[in-house]
Amino acid sequence: MGLARRVAVVGAGMTRFHHRLHLEKSSRDLFVEAAAEAFNSVDKGFDRRDIQSLYVGNFSSDAFEHQCHLGALMADWLGLTPVPAVRIEDACASSGVAVQLGVIAVASGAFDVVLVGGVEKMRAVSNEVVTDTLAMASDQFYEASVGMTFPGLYASMATAYFAKYGSGWEDLAAVAIKNHHNGVMNPKAHFQEEIMDVARRQGAQRGYSFKDELEFLRSPLNPYVAYPLRLYDCCPVSDGAAAVILASEDAARRYTDTPVYVKGLGQASDTMALSSREDFSTLNATKIACKTAYDMAQIDSKNVDLAEVHDCFTIAEVLATEDLGFFPKGTGGKAAVEGRTAINGEIAVNPDGGLKAKGHPVGATGASMVYEVFMQLRGNGGKVQVDDAEIGLIQNVGASGGTVVVQVYGR
Ligand code: COA
Repeated sequence: MGLARRVAVVGAGMTRFHHRLHLEKSSRDLFVEAAAEAFNSVDKGFDRRDIQSLYVGNFSSDAFEHQCHLGALMADWLGLTPVPAVRIEDACASSGVAVQLGVIAVASGAFDVVLVGGVEKMRAVSNEVVTDTLAMASDQFYEASVGMTFPGLYASMATAYFAKYGSGWEDLAAVAIKNHHNGVMNPKAHFQEEIMDVARRQGAQRGYSFKDELEFLRSPLNPYVAYPLRLYDCCPVSDGAAAVILASEDAARRYTDTPVYVKGLGQASDTMALSSREDFSTLNATKIACKTAYDMAQIDSKNVDLAEVHDCFTIAEVLATEDLGFFPKGTGGKAAVEGRTAINGEIAVNPDGGLKAKGHPVGATGASMVYEVFMQLRGNGGKVQVDDAEIGLIQNVGASGGTVVVQVYGR
């Protein structure tokens, strides 16, 4: 499988992800902000009238904002009407899928230039409503209706993983420490504080003193959300948006001399209910999607310099680094402990802080991963720049792995 013609990313933008900063903004404000940044990022200038189609990933503006029909709404607010515009919903993979469909549309020759992206405004409702709404992305019959939540589903994966491989929660803590460290250096990240600084600040307020991060992370100040996952094993609830401009190879030359090419794409589905899977300690859809993407890009996992993976919970990053072939099964956590996934480690995993620290406005997450890869591959990664980054990968997961998208990008 391959693309009928080459497709490039020529511009990208994103809002900061946050839980308080955007309280006054709706999803239309957030998406317009991200898109405007994408337009302004184009090296040789960009006229939005060049956009021929719009793909907006969004999980649930219906429940969060009482607003459906985001495709047309965003086209209207961006001044793009009458271009065809569509909203794509695939849980937390909504904008990864939006990018995928935009790439396929350009590769097919149907369009030369499209805008893809995603948005989620989650903080308009209480976290209880957020948890209940997110649970709609699980299997209603077998999971949500009997009280399963996403922290609960990923906690089940962590428990199964520990039982199978004999590893423990300390491996997960290493993922949280690394991703919060990276988030400190990313101006777009939701959390920009080292875990040790949180430990000192909260410890001083509540009469605790911690010798290191692990002592804080084991303390009551880091409560269990769903055993064995604690607060710092979870992504936060964030608002935000991200947008990416895709162009055919010919069209791309009008906009930049340094396009970032889509080298490989893969997408797979799996049983929605976790209980129907043979193995909780792997995401089969990741393995299938990455094989398709690696084959199309004619690379293997060893060629990847940086990976933006879907660490909605710390265990998810461990599973991803194994299922994508970076480390053998059962060793992804140890790799994090040993610093092999740090920014200039063996492979940089989530240099932008990942969902854990960058935040996870679910419909925006996949596009924000593409944003980061675009910045990194053009040497604009700022303080989190990975040295000599040539191949970047994104892995965007819907819910507990019912949908997985893997994309490979290169200079
Ligand atoms: N990690 C670290 N700190 C966090 C945090 C997280 N994941 N979530 C919240 N906090 C901090 C906040 O910074 C906030 O402190 P501040 O007000 O000083 O900034 C404080 O805890 C309370 O924040 P709040 O959002 O009210 O937290 P909460 O206790 O209601 O919810 C979780 C915490 C973990 C339950 C919630 O963030 C959650 O459900 N996360 C998972 C979301 C999810 O499932 N997404 C889909 C994945 S598939």
